[in-house]
Amino acid sequence: MVDFQHAATVMRALEYDRYGGISELVLRSVPDPRPRNGEIAVRVSSAAVAPIDWKVMRGDFRFLTGGRMPRRIGCDFSGVVAEVGRDVRGVEAGHRVFGCINCFRGDRGTMAEVVIARHGEFAISPPGLSFEFAAALSGSGASAWQCLELARATAGQCALIFGASGGVGSYAVQLAKIRGLSVSAVCSSRNVAAVRNLVVDHVMAYDQQDVLAIDERFDAVIDTVGSYSFPACRRLLKPRGHYVTTVPSGRVYGQVWRSRLSRGPRAHALMVRIEPAVLKELSELAIAGRIRPLIGGIYDLDHARDAFAQSMTGHAVGKLIVRVGSPGGDADQTEAG
Ligand SMILES: NC(=O)c1ccc[n+]([C@@H]2O[C@H](COP(=O)([O-])OP(=O)(O)OC[C@H]3O[C@@H](n4cnc5c(N)ncnc54)[C@H](OP(=O)(O)O)[C@@H]3O)[C@@H](O)[C@H]2O)c1
Repeated sequence: MVDFQHAATVMRALEYDRYGGISELVLRSVPDPRPRNGEIAVRVSSAAVAPIDWKVMRGDFRFLTGGRMPRRIGCDFSGVVAEVGRDVRGVEAGHRVFGCINCFRGDRGTMAEVVIARHGEFAISPPGLSFEFAAALSGSGASAWQCLELARATAGQCALIFGASGGVGSYAVQLAKIRGLSVSAVCSSRNVAAVRNLVVDHVMAYDQQDVLAIDERFDAVIDTVGSYSFPACRRLLKPRGHYVTTVPSGRVYGQVWRSRLSRGPRAHALMVRIEPAVLKELSELAIAGRIRPLIGGIYDLDHARDAFAQSMTGHAVGKLIVRVGSPGGDADQTEAG
C-alpha cells in the first residue's frame, strides 16, 4: 500500500561527486530525507557558509571523510521542523530551529531544502530572531564562545583577537566585551570601520602595522586566522595568559602539549562542539541586541557556489548566507538582523 502521507517528494541539494573546488558543486533534485530515531527533518530557510565546508570538499580531511560519494555540503542552518523522528523530545513540527550539523560524513548538508539534524545539533530559535541571523550564529557563535572558554576569559582581562572581521572573530570580539574584557581587534584596513561598529576598544589593521611587534601584553590572544602561531604570539601574552587558535594542526597540538608541561602562557586548539545550551544563550544575546551578525553577503541556492568562492579567498567579511527556501508558517521571518 502506498503511504500517501509520506510519499517520496524531491528537494534541491548541493552535492559533489569528487573532492576538489567549487566547480565540483552540482545542484541536484534528490529525495527528501526522512528522520530516524533521535532526528528531525528541517525545511531549511537559510544556511551559512563555513570554511570547514570547503576544506572538507577540498579533501583536507580525507583521512576522516573517506571516499563515500556523492557528498552534501553545509553545516550551519535555520529553518522550520517538518517531521520529528522517534525519541525526540521538546521539539515539534512547525517549530523554528537553528544549529550546526556534523559535516564529516557528508550524507547530510544544509545547502539543501531539507536537512536532517540530530539530537544535540540544534536549538529552538526564539521569536524575533531572523532566519538569516540564526544561520549566521550557530557554528561561528559556538566557536567564538568556546574560544573564550578555552582562554578562561573573565571580566577585567584584556584580549587580542586576530581575524575580527571573520565569522568566528566577529562574534569573539562581541562575546569578549559581554564578558567584561577590554578587546583589541585585528583586521585589514578595509574592515576597520565594520569591526569598530562591533564596539571593540581598539582596532589594529594588520596591513598597516606589525601587530606582533606591539608592546602591550594580553591575558588572551585568539587567532581565528591561522597565521599567528603560539611561538609568534608568546611575547604578547602575560605570564599566565592563554593563546587559542581555531586552526589546529599537528604542530599546533605539539605546542599545546608542551605548553602544559612548562611554566608560562598556555596554548589551546579549538575543536568546536555544538551544545544546545550554548546555542540557546547565543540566541538570547542576539534577540536582546547584545550581539549582532556581520553579514558579508546573501545568496540564493542557485548562486551558493559564489558564496563558497568568496569564502575560499580567506577574506570574507562576517558570514555569507545562502537563502535556501521559504519554509512558511506563522514564524516565517526573513529580514536579516
Ligand atoms: N577548529 C574548529 O573547531 C574551528 C571552528 C570554526 C572555525 N574554524 C576555522 O577558523 C578559521 C576562521 O573561520 P571563520 O569562519 O572566522 O573564517 P572567515 O569568516 O573566512 O574569516 C576570515 C577572516 O580573517 C581575516 N584575515 C585574513 N587574513 C588575516 C590576517 N593576516 N590577520 C587578521 N585577519 C585576517 C579576513 O579579513 P580581511 O579580508 O580583512 O583580511 C576574514 O574576515 C577557518 O580556518 C576555520 O576553518 C575552526
